[in-house]
Amino acid sequence: MTGGSHAYGESSYWDSRYRQDPGPFDWYQKYANLAPLLDRYIRRSHRLLLVGCGNSALGEGMVDDGYQDVVNIDISSVVVEAMQEKYKDKPALKYIKMDVRDMNYFGSGSFDAVIDKGTLDSLMCGHNAQSNATKMLGEVGRVLKDKGVYILITYGDPTYRLHLLRELSLWTISLHVIDRMERTSEKKCWELTDPLPLNEDGSSVTNLLGPNPEVHYIYVCTKDDSLRPQKIVKQGKEQNC
Ligand SMILES: C[S@@+](CC[C@H](N)C(=O)[O-])C[C@H]1O[C@@H](n2cnc3c(N)ncnc32)[C@H](O)[C@@H]1O
Repeated sequence: MTGGSHAYGESSYWDSRYRQDPGPFDWYQKYANLAPLLDRYIRRSHRLLLVGCGNSALGEGMVDDGYQDVVNIDISSVVVEAMQEKYKDKPALKYIKMDVRDMNYFGSGSFDAVIDKGTLDSLMCGHNAQSNATKMLGEVGRVLKDKGVYILITYGDPTYRLHLLRELSLWTISLHVIDRMERTSEKKCWELTDPLPLNEDGSSVTNLLGPNPEVHYIYVCTKDDSLRPQKIVKQGKEQNC
C-alpha cells in the first residue's frame, strides 16, 4: 500500500478482493518476524484485538504460539465468514464483522492490546481520511484498558503518523522499525526490539534512518489515562482544560 487508492477505505473493495482471492495473505510482515516485538509488549494470557484482520495468518500464528484470547474484526463480511469457517475448531481465535470506527459492541477497557497491521493505513487512503482515522483511534483508545497497548504496524513514517497519534493525548509512544520483507538493498538492518530515539516531530528517526529506508514502522502506544485532559465542573458546566 503506498497511499494511492481511495478504494482501500471501502468495504465493497475489500469484499470483492476477498471473493477473488481467499488467501491467506499478510500485508507488510508475517507473525514470525513480529513475534519478538509482540512478546516484549503482550502476555499470552492477555485479551487481544486484531483490527482489520483480513485473511492474514497473524491470529493463527499467535494462537499456535500460545496466545489464548485473540478477537479479530473486519468490515468485510466475505472475509469474516471465510475466517469463521476456517478456524471453527480454534476457540481461542474469534472473528466478528465490525467497523473499527464503531466498536460499540465492546465495552470500554475490554482489551489489553489492539494490533493493527495495515488498517489505519487503509482508512488513511480512503475518503474523509482524517475524520475516519480520528474515529478509529478514539475507538481503539476506548476499548483499551489503562496501560494497554495499541501496536500499529504501518508504512507511515513519523512525519505522517506521529501528529495523528498524538492528537488524542491518549498514550505515550515508542517507535520500532523492522526491515521490509522485500528489501533490496544491503543497508543496515534494524534491531526490532530496541525502540528508536523519538523526539517531538519524529525527525530524530527520519534522520537516523536516512532517505527511503526499506522499513515498516511499528508505533507502540501505551494508553495512559493520566494524560487525558482533566474535566473540571465549574458552575454546573463541564469544561476541558
Ligand atoms: C491492508 S488490509 C490488512 C489486512 C491484515 N491486517 C494484514 O495484515 O494482512 C486492511 C484490512 O482492513 C479492513 N478494513 C478496512 N476498513 C475497515 C474498517 N472501517 N473497519 C474494519 N476493518 C476495515 C479491510 O477489509 C482489510 O481486511
